[in-house]
Order: sequence, then C-alpha cells, then structure tokens
Amino acid sequence: MNADTMNAGSMSAGWSWYIIAVVVLNVVGCLWLIWWTAKRRPGDPGPTDTSHVWDENLTEYNKPLPKWWNNLFYMTIIFTVGYLAWFPGLGAFAGYSGWTSAKEHDADKADQDKKLAVAFAPYEGKAIDVIAKDEKALKLGKSIFSNNCATCHGSSAQGAVGYPNLTDNIWHWGGEPDQILETVLNGRQAAMPAWESALGGKQGVTEVAVYLQSMRGEKVDTSLANAGKGKYETICVSCHGPEGKGMQALGAPDLTDDYWLYGEDSHIVETSIAQGRNGQMPAHLPLIGETRVRLAAAYVWSLSHGKTAQAESATVKQ
Ligand code: HEC
Ligand code: HEC
Repeated sequence: MNADTMNAGSMSAGWSWYIIAVVVLNVVGCLWLIWWTAKRRPGDPGPTDTSHVWDENLTEYNKPLPKWWNNLFYMTIIFTVGYLAWFPGLGAFAGYSGWTSAKEHDADKADQDKKLAVAFAPYEGKAIDVIAKDEKALKLGKSIFSNNCATCHGSSAQGAVGYPNLTDNIWHWGGEPDQILETVLNGRQAAMPAWESALGGKQGVTEVAVYLQSMRGEKVDTSLANAGKGKYETICVSCHGPEGKGMQALGAPDLTDDYWLYGEDSHIVETSIAQGRNGQMPAHLPLIGETRVRLAAAYVWSLSHGKTAQAESATVKQ
C-alpha cells in the first residue's frame, strides 16, 4: 500500500487497521470453516450410520458436501480477495482501480450536465415571453420552479405571507418580461423603513393607516384620516406615490389594491408601517445560472400571461 492507494485523511490509521483486521479475520475464518467441515476424519461415523430414523424408513445420512459445491465456496473467497484489491473496502486502502463514489457521482453529473446543456441550448439568451410560447420550455421551467422557487413561493406559485403570489397581475417590481427576468437574475431587496418614531408614535401610525383605508374608498373617521393625510404626504408619498399606487422601481407596493404581501388586517398593516419591511428576493443567477433563470422566469410569466390566465381574466371582466 503506497500513498496513492491509501485514502489518508478520511479515516484514522487506528480505525483503518481495526477494519482491515476484522475483514481479514472473517475471510480467513470462512476459509478455515469450509476446509474443516469438508474433511472426514478417522473415527467419524460412516455416511449411513447416524442412527437418526424417522417415520420408520426416513434415515438421516451424514455425507460431506459435493466437491463442486465446496468449490463454489472457495470461489466466493477468491472473489472477495479480488474485490478488496480492486475496490475500496479494506480500511483506508483505496483499491487499485481508483474507484470512489465521489468520482462516479462527478462523472454522472458531467454526463447529465452535457445532456441538459443540449436541452437548454435553444433558450439561451432568449426573451422570456418568447420562451414561454414553447411547451417543452414551460415544462423545464416548471420543474426548475419546483426545485428552486417553490420553497418560498409555494408549489402553485401562489405565495404566502411575505412571499408574493406570482400568478396574479400585481407586481411590486414590474410584470414586463424584462422586469421579471431582472428580478429573478439579480434579486430584489425591498426597503421600507420603520416609521413609528417619525410618525410620532402609535397614534401617528393609526392615522396614516386610516388614511390608507380612505384612499381605498372605505368609510373612516375623517379627523383621523385628515391627520394621516398630512403625514402620508410628507413621508410616504416619495415611495408609494401621491395616490398610493406605489413605485415599481423601488418595489414599493400599490396600497390601494386589495393585495397585501404581509396581510390585510389593520394591525398587520400598522405593524408594517411602524416596524418597516425588508422582503428579499435572492439573486438566482449565481445559484442556478442564466438559462435556468430564464426558463423559470418564463414559466412564472406564463402563469399570469398564458392562455389559461387570459381566459380567466376574460371571465372575470364579464
Ligand atoms: C428564499 C425565498 C425565495 C426564493 C427561493 C425565491 N424567491 Fe422570489 N421572492 C421572494 C421574496 C421574499 C420576494 C418579495 C420581495 C419583496 O418584498 O419585494 C420575491 C419576489 C419575487 C418576484 C417579484 C414579484 C413582484 O411582485 O414583483 C418574482 C418574479 C419572483 N420572486 C420569482 C422567483 C423565482 C422565479 C424564483 C426561483 C428561481 C424565486 N422567486 C425564488 C423570495 C424567494
Ligand atoms: C423609502 C421608500 C418607502 C417609504 C418612504 C415608505 N414605504 Fe412603505 N413600503 C416600501 C417598500 C419597498 C415596501 C415593500 C416592502 C417589502 O416588500 O418587504 C413597502 C411596504 C409597505 C406596506 C406593506 C404592504 C403590503 O403589501 O403588505 C405598507 C402598509 C406601507 N409600505 C405603508 C407605508 C406608509 C404608510 C408609509 C409612510 C409612513 C410608507 N410606507 C413609506 C417603501 C417605502
């Protein structure tokens, strides 16, 4: 055993020798057992004289195993020795073939990557709304979505609290093909600061929250709403706009629709205002590479722009 064939580092020398000793003892033990039981010794009862008789005429004989059978056992031992020389198994001895499960995995992966590269080639650098017209691409996109995006956005892409629904037509960062692609490639970091102290405490937070309700056309206490309006126009307007419609460049949501990323209960809305929110969509270019990003983004785009989505919005309008 030289340094090349010893797999140093992954196993301490003590353990290695211990395992080698156990393996060798077992092999030698088997060998001895076969040899010892195959022999007939002087004084052994003859094959027919065991004196075990059942049902009057059923007699137990004591004959050695046939030779060919014993030879099969010897062959398994020879196989063991060959196997342990070729493959790893004898402590830290790596085997003369150099095979490791890691190398096999790497080779398999390289193989798969080659096949995937062929499958992905037609979509390289294409716009996602173009990719979305290809059924095969959408299937690839869906499986990439399931593996990489569903943990946060849900397997049906309908999101959860803090994770946006990607199947509707409400976009914090924009729903144009290039905007969705940019979101997934490079990620997005939403920055809504905490406003409680700037608003003069809880009362101020409630006032702007009530003003938001009045913007949505709800019936509210006008004195609270008026107090909130002034505060909204000094602080919130720069990101959420004069009519509360939001600003996609900043990921600042429309506050007048009925979609709430963090929840619609008034105490949740007040918590958003008081403590701020910093939703983060991780950049996926470094994680899964550009073509996978395009395929996943095309799938996402199709959810709100595909044939079914168009049919649904048509029925809603009727
Ligand atoms: C670790 C969780 C996480 C993963 C994984 C993730 N996202 Fe997101 N994503 C978010 C969060 C959080 C936001 C909202 C950011 C914010 O507050 O504006 C978001 C936002 C988005 C948006 C913008 C929605 C809008 O309204 O503009 C798109 C599109 C999107 N994700 C697509 C994807 C795709 C496609 C994948 C997989 C390749 C993915 N996301 C993986 C957490 C995640
Ligand atoms: C610097 C820009 C900025 C300012 C100023 C700002 N916001 Fe925001 N706001 C955001 C962003 C960005 C988000 C999205 C946060 C996220 O996705 O995590 C947001 C989210 C919110 C939400 C949560 C919406 C949801 O869907 O759950 C509420 C409510 C809100 N803002 C209200 C206000 C109010 C009221 C003010 C003024 C006191 C204000 N914002 C000022 C940028 C801003």
